[in-house]
Amino acid sequence: MANIKFIKEDKEVVAADGANLREKAIENRIDIYTFMGKMTNCGGYGQCGTCIVEVVEGGENLSEKTDFEKRKLRKKPDNYRLSCQAIVNGPVTIKTKPKS
Ligand code: FES
Repeated sequence: MANIKFIKEDKEVVAADGANLREKAIENRIDIYTFMGKMTNCGGYGQCGTCIVEVVEGGENLSEKTDFEKRKLRKKPDNYRLSCQAIVNGPVTIKTKPKS
């Protein structure tokens, strides 16, 4: 089991190991998309880059970055992930809609 803590929303949710971060957020009504992202997101296929989050703690408990993330997040800090590409395997702390 893994706890996912969303700091902006002050919400902690429990996920089974292997859960998809974006799906868990949506399931728990955590808003991961900005206004534009809501209109244009790819639905979790790693194509749009709008589901970006900042991993504040526990980055080592997420799956490795996918090739798409590596490309899409090239200019972003190392601890940024595309939530639809990240599989949760342990406790993590997430900041949604990071600036930059
Ligand atoms: S939802 Fe499009 S890249 Fe994650």
